[in-house]
Amino acid sequence: MDSVRAAPKPLRKAVLPVAGFGTRVLPATKAIPKEMLTVFDRPALQYVVDEALAAGIEHLVFVTGRNKGAIEDYFDRAPELEASLQAKGKTAQLKELEISVRPAGAMSFVRQQGALGLGHAVWCARDIVGDEPFAVMLPDMLMMAQPSCLAQMAAVYEKVGGNVIAVEPTDTPEQYGVIAPESRDGRVIKMKGMVEKPKREEAPSNLFISGRYILQPEIFELLSSQKPGAGGEIQLTDSMARLMELQPFHALEYEGRTYDCGDKIGYLRANVAFALANSEYGEKAAEMLKKTLTEWER
Ligand code: G1P
Repeated sequence: MDSVRAAPKPLRKAVLPVAGFGTRVLPATKAIPKEMLTVFDRPALQYVVDEALAAGIEHLVFVTGRNKGAIEDYFDRAPELEASLQAKGKTAQLKELEISVRPAGAMSFVRQQGALGLGHAVWCARDIVGDEPFAVMLPDMLMMAQPSCLAQMAAVYEKVGGNVIAVEPTDTPEQYGVIAPESRDGRVIKMKGMVEKPKREEAPSNLFISGRYILQPEIFELLSSQKPGAGGEIQLTDSMARLMELQPFHALEYEGRTYDCGDKIGYLRANVAFALANSEYGEKAAEMLKKTLTEWER
């Protein structure tokens, strides 16, 4: 335990569970992975990958499922498209493509094979992650923050080692994993427990686990024996609660805003927010939104 604290191993890999069906945004997700739906001008997943890279992540591990091939294609080179843009002198468009291409060997894809829960999805990445700390990033949650949410967490991890998860206040704790705080030092919280989808009146706090985790590899062994929990699924939260007994575990109330794209209104809100925050289009987007609302109210 102390050795973890003294010299935290560097954080190099991030696991992104992307196997879900996206049933809450049907029909949009019937033939397109929900992670590939556009948030303003790029797939939602691009923001999460950018957040990972801004925190120094070198290797992305996608836990996928059937019908998710578009994700693999998106982060690959597109030789025909690139050649065609090149031939037509469309250099601006060629440049737009750059953010989507990851270097060869810097991504892995593993299939979850069944919807058994988030804990099971993370466990599917065990061989690729190996014996090193890793991040988990839930792509439903888009974090608008500077430095990026995961970068803020990585800075805390450098200091305290062990495991670090992002949390923030919510009015609906029953929808999420919720932590029981013990003490607090600024934004860093020491915990005494956590529970997945508590009954509203039993929630140990209003701080929910917002979808970014830095975990030690010992979580995999706990996950392999994890019994189904809330909703009959293998819950990451349940294994983290057990890991907390063995290793340092902190929560960070990160500085920034979270956009939950899990349903249609949340997704719309993310679209509006990321359009407004765009340095090139923000002002035009604001004008358009005001005009649309005025027209609508008439
Ligand atoms: C998952 C986690 C939960 C977390 C939430 C954040 O729940 O199990 O602890 O608070 O993501 O979005 P899900 O959204 O898969 O039900």
